Amino acid sequence: LSKKVEMTNWEKGHYINYQKMSENLSVVRQRLNRPLMYAEKILYSHLDDPHNSELERGKSYLKLRPDRVACQDATAQMAILQFMSAGMPSVATPTTVHCDHLIEAQVGGEKDLARAVDINKEVYDFLATSCAKYNIGFWKPGSGIIHQILLENYAFPGGLMIGTDSHTPNAGGLGMAAIGVGGADAVDVMASLPWELKAPKVIGVKLTGELSGWTAPKDIILKVAGILTVKGGTGAIIEYHGPGVDSLSCTGMGTICNMGAEIGATTSVFPFNDRMYDYLAATKRSAIGDFARSYAHELREDEGAEYDELIEINLSELEPHINGPFTPDLATPISKFKDAVAANKWPEELKVGLIGSCTNSSYEDMSRAASIARDALNHGIKAKAAFTVTPGSEQIRATIERDGQLETLEEFGGMVLANACGPCIGQWDRRDVKKGEPNSIISSYNRNFTGRNDANPATHAFVTSPDLVVALTLAGSLNFNPLTDTLKDKDGNDFKLSAPTGDGLPANGYDPGRDTYQAPPEDRSSVSVAVSPTSDRLQILEPFQSWDGKDALDLPILIKAQGKTTTDHISMAGPWLKYRGHLDNISNNMLIGAINSANGEANKVKNVTNGEWDAVPATARDYKKKGIKWVVIGDWNYGEGSSREHAALEPRHLGGLAIITRSFARIHETNLKKQGMLPLTFSNPEDYDKIQPEDKVDLMCTQLAVGKPMTLRVHPKNGEVFDVQLSHTFNEGQMEWFKNGSALNTMAKAAKS
Ligand code: F3S
Repeated sequence: LSKKVEMTNWEKGHYINYQKMSENLSVVRQRLNRPLMYAEKILYSHLDDPHNSELERGKSYLKLRPDRVACQDATAQMAILQFMSAGMPSVATPTTVHCDHLIEAQVGGEKDLARAVDINKEVYDFLATSCAKYNIGFWKPGSGIIHQILLENYAFPGGLMIGTDSHTPNAGGLGMAAIGVGGADAVDVMASLPWELKAPKVIGVKLTGELSGWTAPKDIILKVAGILTVKGGTGAIIEYHGPGVDSLSCTGMGTICNMGAEIGATTSVFPFNDRMYDYLAATKRSAIGDFARSYAHELREDEGAEYDELIEINLSELEPHINGPFTPDLATPISKFKDAVAANKWPEELKVGLIGSCTNSSYEDMSRAASIARDALNHGIKAKAAFTVTPGSEQIRATIERDGQLETLEEFGGMVLANACGPCIGQWDRRDVKKGEPNSIISSYNRNFTGRNDANPATHAFVTSPDLVVALTLAGSLNFNPLTDTLKDKDGNDFKLSAPTGDGLPANGYDPGRDTYQAPPEDRSSVSVAVSPTSDRLQILEPFQSWDGKDALDLPILIKAQGKTTTDHISMAGPWLKYRGHLDNISNNMLIGAINSANGEANKVKNVTNGEWDAVPATARDYKKKGIKWVVIGDWNYGEGSSREHAALEPRHLGGLAIITRSFARIHETNLKKQGMLPLTFSNPEDYDKIQPEDKVDLMCTQLAVGKPMTLRVHPKNGEVFDVQLSHTFNEGQMEWFKNGSALNTMAKAAKS
């Protein structure tokens, strides 16, 4: 195990450390003294402190040392801007950035890509130069979708990766625990802080039997989604095992893990097996495959390991499924789908079929899709509905171009889109139906929430395997079942489609296609990061000011929020995504969705300095201009939702000092601490009711000490002054964040000393 095997062919000097992993595991084994599941083995072998870490699933927080970080271009902007303000010369953990989210599908790959490069020039220039500066691998626009590139180049069995995208678990197809996180977590790991994760439960999915005919790997996750629903995987890792695993291709396992995000799972994993070895060899990583074989006993579950929950699926009996519309867990087997269409009055005519995306664009997927298209063409017929093909990477595109599948799919009627997310993330300039017009589309993607693909709330989006997408696109109807129904050939004779076939891996190897990777240069000192001072999409972050060492007196309450205040209420998405790299501009959405207890309205608060009612961000800016710090009063579970760090950066940027609530969602609470804010809770939650929106408060910051309460002195607009006790969860290290102004300031200070 002491061999030196590089983690990837694209970097030098970053080795897979099975030796260290196995040492950590033996420490944990002695402590737990029971058989371990594979998911546990991956996590525990990456513990920062295996001797002392608490290890109770569903309870303890694990401090972990991930092997890699990956960011897509939409989330990378703020992550890198924050990393820059830590003042470190390079990332401490191998990191890559992938340009895939900002390319809109309109007329086809080449032109769409050229247009995106033009529109997003300043973002791409910033990412390219900052990656070069801080030693980050940069995958240019056109290179492909983050998850496909990670599987092709970076994932390895037993590894732990975090990525700033919810479908990062795709790398579980190569036996890696790959977990989607927010930008603030990625920054920590880039800067060599341990990463915290609540020890997940593990749901086992035992696969028996064998896939055949029209049933594809996708159907396994479509079925699992139907069983567990969109919430059923929350706080858990889904671990597949059993004899059925061997009938799945590595990329098929990737598809299954990818879509595990739809049931809320932390991640999904498959045990290391021969199919993974074959894929590693085909992607020029035999050395990793051989190394993994020498560690194989730890790359699967122990005999007798017990799962927190167990599901069994017999692949020999599994039917193809179609899930949707509007939610990925509404699973219907193909044999019942026609009836469901009629019963629910889903629009029967199929308008568009879409294959590819990060979920289903492997060589196998494309080959099987092309085999169905060829069958149809041989009978003289083509796609009836519109049809798009999104290759997951330049390597896939070039390989299927060389081997003919692409030509077949085009002849069938397909429009080949850029190697990018495109319609999967709503980057689709769809023109064939009007907004509001009910219609059906079917894709091999993963997510089908209302409006996700084309921003039309009346679009019924279904997800299924690429095989069924092609078959239904051919028929132009949701009512077609290729397993039982016939079609008319060009002469009007009935025929039945043959079941799809296709190689898992290209017999002649992969064609890398165009060069789309930018390695960091040897000499990085002379690189300067490109950010135009007049840009409205990017802004260099100024370090926040450190604490002045005093109690804060006479603070206004910016808003007393009532009821649900999620990260969407605090920092809305939608059109604001454009400003993700510009803190000052995106701060104009701060708390605009929160409901003011004073009037029951959103985005309307009273400015206590002049008595005027105004928008929340405008009022905060006015206080800031006048040198007045402010607080927010919040209700239960404040900040639930996503891990979006903007929800913590914005109040800090606009001059907030403390957020005082009945309770916090944990990730948001930590994010606030990281940005140098004080997240505090009423020791007695009923005190929330005692405070009125126009009261002023004194906050005794000098009392901040681990495990000790703080005093909030309330000066009611009318009435007697009274004190309220506040609690907090700061530990020693986190108190430094507050004192220094932020976690990044603290890191920068440490880097200098
Ligand atoms: Fe995500 Fe789809 Fe892109 S799920 S990574 S948006 S292809």
